[in-house]
Amino acid sequence: MKLLFLLNTLILSAALSSSTVIVTITAAPAIPSNEPSFSIPSSFTSAILNSTNTYRRQYNASSLSWNTTLEKFATSYLQSDTTCRFAHSGGPYGENLAIGYANATASVEAWGNEEEKYNFNDPGFSEETGHFTQLVWKTTTTVGCGRKLCGTRGWFVVCEYWPRGNVGGEYGEEVDRNIDERGGGGTRLSGPVVAAVAVVASLVQCCVVIVVFWWFGKAKL
Ligand SMILES: *[C@@H]1O[C@H](CO)[C@@H](O)[C@H](O)[C@H]1NC(C)=O
Ligand SMILES: *[C@@H]1O[C@H](CO)[C@@H](O)[C@H](O)[C@H]1NC(C)=O
Ligand SMILES: *[C@@H]1O[C@H](CO)[C@@H](O)[C@H](O)[C@H]1NC(C)=O
Ligand SMILES: *[C@@H]1O[C@H](CO)[C@@H](O)[C@H](O)[C@H]1NC(C)=O
Repeated sequence: MKLLFLLNTLILSAALSSSTVIVTITAAPAIPSNEPSFSIPSSFTSAILNSTNTYRRQYNASSLSWNTTLEKFATSYLQSDTTCRFAHSGGPYGENLAIGYANATASVEAWGNEEEKYNFNDPGFSEETGHFTQLVWKTTTTVGCGRKLCGTRGWFVVCEYWPRGNVGGEYGEEVDRNIDERGGGGTRLSGPVVAAVAVVASLVQCCVVIVVFWWFGKAKL
């Protein structure tokens, strides 16, 4: 028993010291460097398209297709940005940037979730919602993105959109409200329909009453 305990202690301390050594050697930052949706090209493309088009469906915008011209533009911009400045390229396309998210889907969701701050009653650009409005911009038809690992800051994602969104004066037509948040197809329509039926019903009732009074009045004369 005692021997066994001693043996356990030895194994445990050996394991601890070896794991300590491993940690010291790799000094691995908590970044998902092997995350497949970043590291495998086909997984990256499908994750971006799936998440982008999930949002676009919700905001009544057609699905985007992958555009390799845009992908190449984003990728070469990332290559030229040797210090990971995390700044816009100044290129001719709509452009969304994200850094440090756990996977490609989470990067797009960070843009989509800006919707919470968007004022549909006062459509326009703001720094806080510009990624969202580009993401669901109805006239945009294609997207292409690149990514690279920026050390401890994680994966830097750059997406280019064409035709570009966030065009001044067009937000009202281009950024539709969330189809689900409008109460869902059926209930959204039934509100006005119920109101219209109620108006027609009360008009009919009113007419019937008038006709009845007129009829009785005439009959009395
Ligand atoms: C597709 O995108 C949506 C929205 O980001 C996400 O909730 C869902 O998990 C994604 N599906 C796959 C298979 O990645
Ligand atoms: C969706 O968009 C189309 C045109 O892009 C428009 O005609 C239609 O009214 C929109 N639907 C809703 C529910 O807003
Ligand atoms: C991809 O983007 C380029 C750059 O704007 C554009 O010229 C081209 O027509 C796009 N490709 C498709 C298939 O839409
Ligand atoms: C992506 O990352 C988010 C946030 O960490 C996580 O909730 C989600 O499960 C991840 N999705 C996939 C497909 O790994």
